Amino acid sequence: MKIINEKFELNVQLSNPNMKIQNKYFNQTNANAVRNFHSKFSNYKPTPLVALDALAEKMNVSKILVKDESKRFGLNAFKVLGGAYAIAKLICKELKIDINAIDFGYLKSDEIKEKLGNVTFITATDGNHGRGIAWAAKELGQNAVIYMPKGSALNRVKAIEKLGAKVTVTNLNYDDSVRVALEESEKNGWFMVQDTAWEGYEEIPRWIMQGYMTMATEAVEQMEDMEIKKPTHVILQAGVGAMAGAVLGYLSNKYKKVPKTIIVEPTEAACIYKSAVAGDGKMHIVDGDLTTIMAGLACGEPNPLGWSILNEHASAFISCGDYISANGMRILANPIKNDERVISGESGAISIGLINLLSLNELADVREKLEINEDSVILLFSTEGDTDPENYMKVVWEGKYSKTN
Ligand SMILES: Cc1ncc(COP(=O)(O)O)c(C=O)c1O
Repeated sequence: MKIINEKFELNVQLSNPNMKIQNKYFNQTNANAVRNFHSKFSNYKPTPLVALDALAEKMNVSKILVKDESKRFGLNAFKVLGGAYAIAKLICKELKIDINAIDFGYLKSDEIKEKLGNVTFITATDGNHGRGIAWAAKELGQNAVIYMPKGSALNRVKAIEKLGAKVTVTNLNYDDSVRVALEESEKNGWFMVQDTAWEGYEEIPRWIMQGYMTMATEAVEQMEDMEIKKPTHVILQAGVGAMAGAVLGYLSNKYKKVPKTIIVEPTEAACIYKSAVAGDGKMHIVDGDLTTIMAGLACGEPNPLGWSILNEHASAFISCGDYISANGMRILANPIKNDERVISGESGAISIGLINLLSLNELADVREKLEINEDSVILLFSTEGDTDPENYMKVVWEGKYSKTN
């Protein structure tokens, strides 16, 4: 069933999730192994799970829980969880080491450097993934080469260059920048560490997705500490759908009855939504400039593993306008009553913006279809902080709400 609301630039595709299929890559054992790896980082600390109780009351739901990934390893976004884990797995595979027996510190040692030699990791990124790869490469004393799509914010470029990586901003969109990075990796014999997959290139993206599970395992534990058994709803934003697939893959293993999960994307780059609407189980591509303020979600080609999980387990697929994420940024920046402030960037705030939109009387029918009501416990992931501080200020202070205004 499809609901289109032109006034609010909101498109909803409802789905009937298959609760039975489980994904072996995202089970508890793998999640524990990944968490064990991350928890050995010297600056590891679970990111906060912020309960916005006053906002929940205002929006007529029981709980709104926001996982604040701006606090992740000082890198302002969740992405490094995947990139660092994949690079570690890659090195362990090359050198035939068991990742469970070592820590990241050991991979930084002279012994490993000597065995591995001088290597280069290459990737394409809208910013956050590349920053994670550049950080991991620097920590390991290795090189990173990063390709970024046209229109990438200078602040995001500089943040990656600061970590010693060589950055090239292409005149292409994200998906075509990935193809350029792949060509370069093949030409130069560099390690391609990409956060999306395609036929024949699945292992590294799978490791990246597994890395994201740490965010989900932390959230589950934090909810248990709050005496919340499980969320009724989870809202996950998607670019290629790797993050959403990893989190939902884990939750579908964890809970017998999977929470109602809503996948949300910007209208101009809604490849997961488009695939769900097609209803043929296949991935469908969006091309062109993918114009949106949500740089991290500006991807037109789904990740196949991510898509297969979302297709099986998600309850709804939504595409919506940029103004919804801009509203979400402002709401999290201006908490009410005793709620905590969360600094959330363009790709981080879309879910809270969506909850706010759905609280409108005019959208009661959508709320009802999604079974959002006063008993709902809604889990969201603010996946980045102000990764482009200049644009963050324009949105939060000056009321910017699209790429062009
Ligand atoms: C901040 C942020 N949130 C969400 C996503 C979406 O992740 P995925 O591309 O795996 O769907 C990204 C991707 O770069 C991101 O940077």
